[in-house]
Order: sequence, then C-alpha cells, then structure tokens
Amino acid sequence: MKNIITFGTFDVFHVGHINILERAASYGDNLIVGISSDELSFSKKKRYPIYCQSDRMKIINSLRCVNKVFIEEYLELKLDYIKQYNATLLVMGDDWIGSFDWVKKVCDVIYLPRTPSISTTEIIEIVGLMPK
Ligand code: CTP
Repeated sequence: MKNIITFGTFDVFHVGHINILERAASYGDNLIVGISSDELSFSKKKRYPIYCQSDRMKIINSLRCVNKVFIEEYLELKLDYIKQYNATLLVMGDDWIGSFDWVKKVCDVIYLPRTPSISTTEIIEIVGLMPK
C-alpha cells in the first residue's frame, strides 16, 4: 500500500484543486489530504478562508480520489503528519517548488504543474467585482 499525502487550504473548491488531487492519487493507493486550519490559512494568506475548515474538510472528504482528510494545525508538524499517516510521497503544486525539499529525509517529494488561469484568490476577486 503506497500512501500519498498533500496539503492545502482548498477554499472555494475549483477545478485546479480536483486536478491536483486526482493526479496526486494516481501516484499510489491512498490519498491523504491535510487541510489547513482556518488559523493556519490566515497565517499563510493574510485572510480567513471563505469556507470554514469543517466545510472544506467535508467537501474534500466527499471526493472519490481522496481516502482520508485531517486538519493541518501547524506547519512545523509536517514531518509528524507524514510519519503518522505512513506517507511515502508528498505531492504539491509547483507554486511550492523547493519549499518542501526539507521533508525528503522522511519521504519523496514531487511538485506537479498548477492548472493555469484559476485560483481561489482570483475567483474571490472576480466575484467581488461583479455588478450588484
Ligand atoms: N493548485 C493547482 N492549480 C491551481 C490552484 C491550486 O494545482 N490552479 C494546487 C496548489 O498548488 C496546491 C493545492 O492546489 O497544491 C491547494 O492550493 P490552494 O492554495 O488551496 O489553492 P489556490 O487556488 O492556489 O488558493 P489561493 O489563491 O488562495 O492561494
């Protein structure tokens, strides 16, 4: 059994999210997704997610390609999460290229190309610009 792990906020779910999750799942047998807590997302992105962590968990957990979800509380616990879930491969989008090379002491790391032209930030901006 090969366990794959990935991490992210996955707020305002979009096609770039499903693309990376499906591609990550194709590298092994089980896909485990660490979903950034609301506080961790705030510390990374300087705004709170639109969808709260329990809703984001529920959405990701409902996907066919996902086997397990958990809340990632602290970036510093990355290695502990990887060990806890027996993951042998960490998959991230290439916006993070190089950032997780330090976990290579416990598992392999690959960065997959992001889906072009879509992000949660851009969706929020576009919706905010819509005429009322
Ligand atoms: N991702 C992707 N392609 C996109 C957007 C995101 O492959 N177009 C990947 C990211 O690389 C990451 C995962 O999806 O591995 C979760 O990213 P997240 O930060 O939650 O999504 P974004 O849309 O990038 O959010 P934001 O705009 O708030 O940064």
